[in-house]
Amino acid sequence: MLPKTVKRICCIGAGYVGGPTCAVIAKQNPDIQVTVVDLSEARIAAWKSTALPIFEPDLYEIVEVARDGTDGRRPNLHFSTDIATAIDEADLIFIAVNTPTKTAGLGAGKASNLAYVESAARMIAEAATSDKIVVEKSTVPCGTADSLRTIFAALAPHLAFDILSNPEFLAEGTAINDLLNPDRILIGSLKDAKSKSAAEALAQVYNWVPRNRIVTVNIWSSELAKLAANCMLAQRISSINSLSAICEATGAEIEELAQVVGLDVRIGGRMLKASAGFGGSCFKKDVLSLVYIAESLHLEEVALHWKSVVDLNEYQKGRFARRITRALHNTLANKRIAILGWAYKKNTRDTRESAAITIAGQLIAEGAQLAIYDPLVSEKQIFDDLESACPNASSSVKVYPDASAACIDACAVVIMTEWDEFKTDYAGSPTFGGMANSSTDDHHLTSTSTSASSDSGIDMQDDPSEKSAVLPAPGIDDNPNYSTKRIDWRHIAAVVRRPRLVFDGRNVVDSDMLASLGFRVQSIGKADVF
Ligand code: NAD
Ligand code: UGA
Repeated sequence: MLPKTVKRICCIGAGYVGGPTCAVIAKQNPDIQVTVVDLSEARIAAWKSTALPIFEPDLYEIVEVARDGTDGRRPNLHFSTDIATAIDEADLIFIAVNTPTKTAGLGAGKASNLAYVESAARMIAEAATSDKIVVEKSTVPCGTADSLRTIFAALAPHLAFDILSNPEFLAEGTAINDLLNPDRILIGSLKDAKSKSAAEALAQVYNWVPRNRIVTVNIWSSELAKLAANCMLAQRISSINSLSAICEATGAEIEELAQVVGLDVRIGGRMLKASAGFGGSCFKKDVLSLVYIAESLHLEEVALHWKSVVDLNEYQKGRFARRITRALHNTLANKRIAILGWAYKKNTRDTRESAAITIAGQLIAEGAQLAIYDPLVSEKQIFDDLESACPNASSSVKVYPDASAACIDACAVVIMTEWDEFKTDYAGSPTFGGMANSSTDDHHLTSTSTSASSDSGIDMQDDPSEKSAVLPAPGIDDNPNYSTKRIDWRHIAAVVRRPRLVFDGRNVVDSDMLASLGFRVQSIGKADVF
């Protein structure tokens, strides 16, 4: 059976997955018309503008080519709220809607909420007037394809729907690179010839991916493999974080441990960076979804195993907050604490499940006054996050436009996101080493500038990593210098309160260098340095 040639794609859901994935598909397939639809008018309006609703390095450049035809080609990427028309015109429809954890009813707190997937399926069944290939792009529990089949059979029995699973593996902050150079494209289908032909039609859409990276499996394996991949990644982080607690108590160093363990090719070195806890919209929800699946199958030990990944993550966040409190004599009442970073990881504006939110809530509960800075996250987003996590927190929080201002008079500086801006590993660092002898001399440390380059005499252009740094797209309402700015830690030393405590929740600073400036540094999985 010859595979259908896909000419029109509709993607339901214009979020972190639907937007970037379809932008790349459209860019790589000038002959396919791609329409991304969403219920949210604001989101669609933003996708049509220069201020895209999400920030991803290199995203704007791809959108410009496909949406606006800036390289002289016919635009083939469209954004719309006319969902019915886009569905009806398409040969292939991606469902890329959110699948959050259920908050009420059976499985609340663990099971995936499939209401958005179901509503997308109903829209397809109601709007379609011809046969369609329907692709699950969202992360869903094993068996969801069966529910879709039931919905289509009930609502549109006169049409044929081929249901495929094609989960997405991109990570935020590196989404475009992940989409252009994926480790694998996973396509799940049924075993019959028609399903396999639909899978082949989808495989041809990924024309830029080497064929040996396109893996076809049965549809249930595909659904479960996506959950399994996220659970295994989250498990590695919880494992290394559990070891970080042992390191702190014994004098072993977590980075040395990760290096040695990761050099075993059977283990590999990635996703072994100890931190104050993983965040993001998916790890916690996907692990909990697997826990619920195991519980539903009466596999209690399996459920307990995976639940411990999330429990350890909560423990790690609490442990970090307790460490800060302990170092400040077990009381934070009216103490000002600077929080550097709010996004759950660098190079995104996304704050969903960010460890910063939980830890900030715990510090506020101890009476702290927080001074928060993040290069990309807006003040409104920070207050919205705090409102849901820790109501009435707003009187304890102020958001600052730069790191130096947030640090003035702070009893402690807490690094929560690994933004390059906070790092110390750049060319010119010997300058800091040279400051060792004057590190306790506030007169020498005082600076009136908050610019690292002007004040420290460091030429940022010397840092090879900066030469390839991606700048935000023009017109995007972001800090235009976010990728090249650097904190002047000498200046921070001058403005914080003694004993100049730094809590590095991402292990991004060189503790010895900061100690030479008079800081006392507590990192994850390492001895304190001062
Ligand atoms: P998101 O919340 O950013 O976007 C989902 C969008 O779907 C929203 O804009 C929402 O308005 C829209 N939507 C919901 N129901 C709709 C309907 N019936 N019709 C039209 N639009 C509808 O979510 P996301 O982060 O893009 O995640 C989507 C899915 O992809 C989830 O299952 C997630 O687990 C998975 N995933 C996410 C990532 C990631 O990095 N965020 C990576 C891989 C997989
Ligand atoms: C993760 C997966 O990496 C993607 O493959 C997957 O597609 C996606 O979830 C999803 O399904 O949503 P993402 O959450 O965007 O991607 O980012 P990661 O790089 O995996 O980081 C997640 C969290 O773990 C972040 O808070 C990060 O700081 C933390 N992390 C990551 C660590 O603490 N240590 C590490 O070694 C790696």
